[in-house]
Amino acid sequence: MGIFPDNFLWGGAVAANQCEGAFDEDGKGLSVQDVLPHGIRGERTAVPTEDNMKLKGIDFYHRYEEDIRLFAEMGFKVFRTSIAWSRIFPKGDESEPNEKGLEFYDRLFDECHKYGIEPLVTISHYETPLYLAEHYNGWANRKLIGFFENYVRVIFERYKGKVKYWLTFNEINSILHAPFMSGGITTPPAELSEQELYQAAHHELVASALAVKIGHEVMPGAEIGCMILSMPAYPLTPAPEDVLRAMEDEHKNYFFGDVHVRGEYPGYMKRYFKEHGIEIRFEPEDGEILKNTVDFVSFSYYMSCCAAADEDKQARGTGNLLGGVPNPTLKASEWGWQIDPKGLRYVLNQYWDRYQKPLFIVENGLGAVDELVEDENGNKTVEDDYRIEYLRSHLEQVKEAVKDGVELMGYTSWGCIDVVSASTAELKKRYGYVYVDRNDDGSGTLNRYKKKSFYWYRDVIKNNGETL
Ligand code: BG6
Repeated sequence: MGIFPDNFLWGGAVAANQCEGAFDEDGKGLSVQDVLPHGIRGERTAVPTEDNMKLKGIDFYHRYEEDIRLFAEMGFKVFRTSIAWSRIFPKGDESEPNEKGLEFYDRLFDECHKYGIEPLVTISHYETPLYLAEHYNGWANRKLIGFFENYVRVIFERYKGKVKYWLTFNEINSILHAPFMSGGITTPPAELSEQELYQAAHHELVASALAVKIGHEVMPGAEIGCMILSMPAYPLTPAPEDVLRAMEDEHKNYFFGDVHVRGEYPGYMKRYFKEHGIEIRFEPEDGEILKNTVDFVSFSYYMSCCAAADEDKQARGTGNLLGGVPNPTLKASEWGWQIDPKGLRYVLNQYWDRYQKPLFIVENGLGAVDELVEDENGNKTVEDDYRIEYLRSHLEQVKEAVKDGVELMGYTSWGCIDVVSASTAELKKRYGYVYVDRNDDGSGTLNRYKKKSFYWYRDVIKNNGETL
């Protein structure tokens, strides 16, 4: 046997709102993404506007058969996508689901199984129904737990024979940084108190544990995980103050994993709440519900950052949702995300040491501008050696972590086919092995083309990571 186990789940990941398009077809309601034409850093609009690339996405809703076939050609064992909540419950608070929405995911999961690809499904990936945001203030409102419960019961019952692997909330810790996109909270960030934010996080944590409980009842063989945005914070200097600052920054993220894995609030968070005048309102049943801990821990990894005690050094990097002090020893992508393959080995070891639960890397990759060229046979392609280098160097470190003894279920790189970016809502920030001919001005044929990395990843999977 090689380094990676024989049943290692190689594959790729997308999210419904970034690829499906068809934003108002077959009874789908609006989601928060339909009014975010410029991603997290831009203003939301009152109604969907034409400049919003996500409304059409890459038209996966109509082209999924071709796309799954391409994933199968690369040898995918697993395909991660999300269910768009507002396809199933257009407003979010109805009691009866939208049958047409359910049928779409039946077709999609059947298509995956046709090729022996296991779906890995995110239940909520930055796509809270807009109605729940506008009428309830999203996850700030405890009522969301009940609506979410209704939603998960429906999808678990419907897909129990088709989906074995589930994730509850995508990057659940991001609610602290992007309250509207991540949690459907409409209170303007400047008016949003930490009290309200952590209460919303509590509602999500309870809802997540409830999903684990219901999932295990409805689907005895299913495995249900949490999903954390991981971004290790290294101390900027060896000064103990910086080390402690890094620890405190890390706690803000560990908090979410700790509750999911241990089933209770950690001491450092109770202290933080106490010292900041935050009182989380627990209903009597919450303590019991939280004890429904996850089967595995999944996470995204794109970059690391630094932490410094000196507030003057806190200049934020332009990276992922979490920001962070830039690391002077690392280079960055075109979007300012610092590239740190060794950080992935570090994170894997940190999580494994802390949780002793199977881990799953469900996002990793390089967002870059690609140029479509013709190869010697006249076929269109992209010579994306930079992407291959990013992925290869990260996978080498994954291999090191497996040698360290980390139990890892699989690896799904982000945006296995080009999709619309979450943070900037652009299509020119591409992650895929497959190029999609669509541009940010709306032009393009939507044709798919295999990049050089397509063949590279196909070989990685074929050799089970032995020849990296
Ligand atoms: C993660 C999200 O934060 O990063 C994805 O879960 C997102 O939805 C990915 O697409 C990459 O970020 P971006 O902003 O480059 O699309």
